[in-house]
Amino acid sequence: MEKKTVRTGIVGAGFAATFHFECLKKVHGTNVEVEGVFAADAEQARAYADKRGIKTCESLAELLDKVDVVHVCTPPVAHEPIAVAALEQDKFAIVEKPLTGYFGDGSEDFNGDTFPKQDALDQSLDSVERMLEAESKSKGRILYAENWIYAPSIQKEREIIEKTGAQILWIHGEEAHSGSHAATYAYWKFSGGGVMIGKGCHPLTAALYLKRVEGIARNGEPIKPKAVSARVHAITRLDGFRDEGHIRRDYHDIDDFSLMHVVFEDGTIADIFASDIILGGIHNWLEVSANNHRTVCNINPNTAMKTYNPVDANFDDIYVVEKTGTKQGWSNPSPDEDWFTGYPQETEAFYRTIAYGDTLESTSNLAADCISTIYSAYVSAEKTGAEVSIKTF
Ligand SMILES: NC(=O)c1ccc[n+]([C@@H]2O[C@H](COP(=O)([O-])OP(=O)(O)OC[C@H]3O[C@@H](n4cnc5c(N)ncnc54)[C@H](O)[C@@H]3O)[C@@H](O)[C@H]2O)c1
Repeated sequence: MEKKTVRTGIVGAGFAATFHFECLKKVHGTNVEVEGVFAADAEQARAYADKRGIKTCESLAELLDKVDVVHVCTPPVAHEPIAVAALEQDKFAIVEKPLTGYFGDGSEDFNGDTFPKQDALDQSLDSVERMLEAESKSKGRILYAENWIYAPSIQKEREIIEKTGAQILWIHGEEAHSGSHAATYAYWKFSGGGVMIGKGCHPLTAALYLKRVEGIARNGEPIKPKAVSARVHAITRLDGFRDEGHIRRDYHDIDDFSLMHVVFEDGTIADIFASDIILGGIHNWLEVSANNHRTVCNINPNTAMKTYNPVDANFDDIYVVEKTGTKQGWSNPSPDEDWFTGYPQETEAFYRTIAYGDTLESTSNLAADCISTIYSAYVSAEKTGAEVSIKTF
């Protein structure tokens, strides 16, 4: 079969746009033509484009005219308008996590700590519905860039569940590190919440996905989340937090610790932790306890490699693993961190969906259930953990 060519554009020129571009270079199922980049920060877009030998665009409209798909690598507050603009022109939209959210009432001094969280739930679901509506009218699709779905360990667990007919009884998982780099992350009005959405969305979506897989393998019906109880905390904003310089602490109005206890419609459960208070490098894992097996998916770190380095400076220009505080002593360097986290597999799968219509694993409905669960969890946390029911899509 002759390879099809997909014309693509990048929106945003920061951290996510960088790894998205790296993955585009590895796509082998289709030809990829990068037509340009557009970012709100024009200077950053210029530097990004020059480094990669691609063009910049003056506007989103200019970029959309030239492409079949855009990578939405902007802060979450901009995901909906960009994705909807793409879908309205029958283009595909690869949307970074979280799909969308609630970003305040527009006031400059909006405070994420104190507003009623039911507003966030109602309005984030309105946003989800607008995106799903735009998708339903479009020849394009939303491709939800949740890399955990494509991480090799999660896909291996999917195979185990499907082939053994497993019943998942309990999932527990976590995404954590010592603090996100993006300046906008500290503000609810840009991020749509704190660590519960920013990091919790990863293990949560993997858990929702595996329960869907279980149900579809059994009788064609996905098993959906039914209710959630949650707690959130702002540990680094405690008066008594003793800062020794290892953990980011300039959050304005967001949580830096969260726990979601999810009950599925079959009565089984998932416990999802997310935090910005963990030292020792990124800590991303998901454990599945089933009726016929138990699996630990180590997304990061993993033990593919173990190195002892006596002098920190010797590894100055050697990347070891995300967010590690020191490279001295024993460490687990990741020989291909992107591969373990699922980034290239996700990109390959998306381009095959765009070009050949291959089945999409990380769908807008899965992303919508993630948003619904998280904002229901914020409502629960406001009530110090009371159970809140979840609307699903
Ligand atoms: N999947 C992952 O592992 C992962 C990791 C990091 C970030 N992300 C996600 O990627 C997205 C971007 O995060 P980041 O860390 O790259 O942020 P960043 O701050 O590094 O970069 C954001 C970029 O978006 C641009 N931008 C902002 N508003 C825009 C708009 N309205 N139109 C066009 N460009 C706009 C900025 O100019 C900047 O170039 C977020 O949704 C984040 O949650 C995902």
